[in-house]
Amino acid sequence: MEQHKGSARDQFVSKLGFIFAAAGSAVGLGNIWRFPYLAGRHGGGAFVLFYLICIIVIGFGLMLAEFAVGRHTQLSSVDAFKKLDRRFTFVGAMGVLAAFVIMGYYPVVGGWSVAYIFKTIMGQLSTDAAVMEQTFGSLVGGIASPIFWTVVYLLANVVIVIKGISDGIEKASKVMMPLLFILLIILVVRSLTLPGAMEGLKYLFVPDFSKLTGDVLLAALGQAFFSLSLGMGCMITYASYLSKKENLVQSAIIVPTMDTCVALLAGVVIIPATVAFGFDLGQGPGLVFVTVPAILATMGPVLGRIFGLTFFLLLSVAALTSSLSLMEVVVSYLIDNRGWDRQKAVLGSSTAMFIICIAASLSMGIWSGFTIGGMNIFDLLDWFANNVLLPLGGIFITLYVGWFWGVDKVRDEITNNGEVRFALFNVWIFLCRFVIPLIIAIVLLSGIGII
Ligand code: PHE
Repeated sequence: MEQHKGSARDQFVSKLGFIFAAAGSAVGLGNIWRFPYLAGRHGGGAFVLFYLICIIVIGFGLMLAEFAVGRHTQLSSVDAFKKLDRRFTFVGAMGVLAAFVIMGYYPVVGGWSVAYIFKTIMGQLSTDAAVMEQTFGSLVGGIASPIFWTVVYLLANVVIVIKGISDGIEKASKVMMPLLFILLIILVVRSLTLPGAMEGLKYLFVPDFSKLTGDVLLAALGQAFFSLSLGMGCMITYASYLSKKENLVQSAIIVPTMDTCVALLAGVVIIPATVAFGFDLGQGPGLVFVTVPAILATMGPVLGRIFGLTFFLLLSVAALTSSLSLMEVVVSYLIDNRGWDRQKAVLGSSTAMFIICIAASLSMGIWSGFTIGGMNIFDLLDWFANNVLLPLGGIFITLYVGWFWGVDKVRDEITNNGEVRFALFNVWIFLCRFVIPLIIAIVLLSGIGII
């Protein structure tokens, strides 16, 4: 989407166009890379259950709140808050910071994904944990090669955002997202028919509540925010292009539902296979890159390569549609508030992102000894953005909509001045006023170790 200001703003021509753009932002590495490895690391069922509760109680409601702010103001997040209530401008600014921090490591993982397109074509597939861990470890632990792939991935973002041709990508993702869905279903079948897979399915869905510590709760909450692209103004910016006729409530139901289905499918592909192969469930960020090639290895050399190529290509595109939306948050801030031109904004911000990405990438290898609170640079960026900034953003956005905007104005926006029925409006406002901010605050404080 191009950024236009004022009345000449582009709008999504069709409702599906908006839903695909928002889903394109939501569905990405968060669903396929991050969700399974967090579920594996944090004990499975209980983590998944609390994640789903967060999606249902917080995700839908917060997404609706962001849609309302964006469409009402027709402005990207910083300006939206500036216009509505100057005191809340910092919420937009915090979102820009969060987008920037996430872009300090997201392209590193995007780069791994691109690298694996080639690794799978070359037939680097094996069901032997030692071999697959070695393949992954030598990629991410290296110096030049992971940085090279990060550059490839980041350049794709730069070109697309400078040219303002994300439309094209979003159109492509209309084809690729259904394909990704189909491919995941094929992989689910392959994974679940591996001997011993049922144990893994149990691990994923049968909760063991003894595993629910404060930091596990916070990890699940942070994952809900990250996966739905919430708490940082991304959905505010997207909704600013929506026409006054669209049904916001419907969109705020469809997008999180799609996103959650993809995450659950990815979990059902990866966790049961990991258990079936006897791989380490708690290995962290390498999980998808170790387990998926192993699943592919069981499909034979030809099919394995074809599915491998398709899987990592689709994963890279899904990642791309997400990182475009992240970069756009930073770039539109620099253009609208700092008066930069688009090219300068993209080149400036991506250079800064690249420098942080180098540190994030090296922290998986030669800099792994540098840690704070047990986290390397990569984990720190990820933790700070998703477990601190996004939840804080969520608290302030819902508090603003619940208490400061004015219930009548909110109702008019959500119901298109009374044209759309929203029977649960009062319940939703109650969620925004009390339930959502309170849950986030409690989980945040307990995850950080304050309570
Ligand atoms: N939701 C994206 C993903 O799952 C990441 C993202 C987070 C995108 C926040 C935009 C804003 O990969």
